[in-house]
Order: sequence, then C-alpha cells, then structure tokens
Amino acid sequence: MYTIILGAPGAGKGTQADILSQEMNLPHIASGDLFRQALEARAEFGLPAKSYMDKGELVPDEITIKMILEKIDQSDCASGCLLDGFPRTLHQAEVLDQALEEQGKSIDKAIYIEVPSEELVKRLSGRRLCRTCQTPYHTINSPPKTPGRCDKCGGELYQRSDDRDETVKNRLNIFFAQTLLILDYYKKQGKLIKVNGNQGIQDVTREILSALKHQCQPEQSGEPLRFPSTGSGRAPVAEFTLSEAKALPQNDIRGEHRQNKW
Ligand code: AP5
Ligand code: MG
Ligand code: ZN
Repeated sequence: MYTIILGAPGAGKGTQADILSQEMNLPHIASGDLFRQALEARAEFGLPAKSYMDKGELVPDEITIKMILEKIDQSDCASGCLLDGFPRTLHQAEVLDQALEEQGKSIDKAIYIEVPSEELVKRLSGRRLCRTCQTPYHTINSPPKTPGRCDKCGGELYQRSDDRDETVKNRLNIFFAQTLLILDYYKKQGKLIKVNGNQGIQDVTREILSALKHQCQPEQSGEPLRFPSTGSGRAPVAEFTLSEAKALPQNDIRGEHRQNKW
C-alpha cells in the first residue's frame, strides 16, 4: 500500500507518518528528512539540496525524484510505504505514478492534512527535532519528558534552520501555490482524502486510520479547491484558487526570484 501524506509545512505530516508507520507497519519515507540526513552524513543528495532548503525553496525535481525513486526501489518498500513531503510538484506526482505503474503498483490514497495557516506558523516556531531519529516535538504542544532530549533515543533536540520566520513564510507561499495542483491531480483520480489537522495529534491519527479503514468517500471533483484555509484570523500567506495556481509561472511556484509579498 503506497500512501501519500500531504500537508503544509507544520501540518503534522512527519508526526502522523511516524505514528502511522508503526500502526500500519510500513516504512516512513520523508523527502525533507532524507535531505537533512544526507547533508549531515555529507552524502550524495545533501549538499546540492542545502541552498534551496535554507531559503525555503523547492529542491530541483531531478535531484528529488532520483533520491525518492532510489529509496522506494529498496526491498523494505516492496509492499508499500508512507510518503511524506513527496510529491511536491505535478511533475514529481506524474513520475511517481509512472515508476510505480512499471512495477504493476499504484498509489492507494493521498491524505491531505488541512490546518489553518496561522496555526502552521505557531507550530513551526515551537518545533524541535531529534538530531538522531528526527522525531518532532513541540515546546508547548508535545514537549519531551526531559527538556532538550528525545524520548525515544535520548538524542539532542534542535531547531531546524528553515523554521525561522522569513523562511517559514516562503515555504508556506510555495506550498500553497504548488499543492493545489497536486490535490487536484489526486482528486481527479478519486484518491484524495482530506482530514482535519487542526485537532489533537491522536485525533488526527484516528481520523486518518478511520478514513483508510472505511475506504472513506474521496473528495469529489466538482467542489472548487481554494487555499489556504484560514481559520478565523487573517491569512499570513497569499491565497490561490486552482486556476490562479495553474497560471503561475513555474519559477514563481518554485520560489525563485520571488518578491516578498508580506
Ligand atoms: P520537509 O522536511 O518536508 O518540510 P515541510 O514540508 O516544510 O514540512 P515540515 O516537516 O516542516 O512539517 P510537517 O508537516 O512534517 O510537521 P511536523 O509533523 O514536524 O521539507 C523541507 C525542505 O526540503 C523543503 O522546504 C524543500 O526545500 C525540501 N524538499 C522536501 N521535499 C521536497 C520535494 N518533494 N521537492 C522539492 N523539495 C523538497 O509538525 C510540526 C510541529 O507541530 C511539530 O512541533 C509537532 O510536534 C507539532 N504538531 C504536529 N501535529 C500537531 C497537532 N495535531 N496539534 C498541535 N501540534 C502539532
Ligand atoms: Mg516533516
Ligand atoms: Zn530520537
């Protein structure tokens, strides 16, 4: 079973994929974690990705796709995996479908964790990660038992350099422009499931598992898609409709030459 976890930066993709990976006994493949691990180990994909990640921009497709396809070709992913953070562009989604199809496989469901944008900013500013196993914590929402140390492995907790304010805004803008296209792609295939990510961590897990178990009715293609959902406050990021997102030039979506819209 190949399941995609979609969501904005800070939506809880990593948090949920970690839990689901144990519940469903599937490997958790996170493109961002793979880049950070590669950088730490000075391995192939780390250094080329660094400058893009530092600015909150997307790493070029040719690097990202190669890294992920190599990973899902490994034997532990032979019967499925949870993909977190990939695909992020329409091209990535299409190449992934092709690669799986060549092996007689396909994406089962794409789960979109929806969270209002003002909540995303709060989550990212309080996030801390384990340097060793990448488990995410939050200074207020899910603090570790011992301050500064991972509950699972005792590793040191640190703050990601791209969780700084300016980079966060850039990441959110790029996400909302790009992801509408991906949601539309999976919606047309009848594979998109939207869950409410603006509730407790366990409640989100429960909603995802229940949607997967009961083969919950996927989003219908007739409804208009609009991003981001903004809760009650003023949205801290630019809003896009699907046709606006489609009309954006690719380099704008990728974040290159982006004017600061804030
Ligand atoms: P990546 O690492 O994928 O970052 P992201 O998409 O920006 O997402 P995050 O990891 O920030 O958020 P998350 O949804 O995993 O949230 P988390 O569970 O940690 O990508 C980083 C960079 O790599 C990109 O900017 C790009 O440069 C590059 N990259 C990666 N993939 C790429 C691709 N496919 N193509 C091109 N470039 C790519 O939770 C956040 C916080 O909230 C935590 O503190 C957590 O404890 C807390 N929290 C979680 N759930 C809840 C809840 N329900 N209630 C309250 N708090 C919660
Ligand atoms: Mg993550
Ligand atoms: Zn750890």
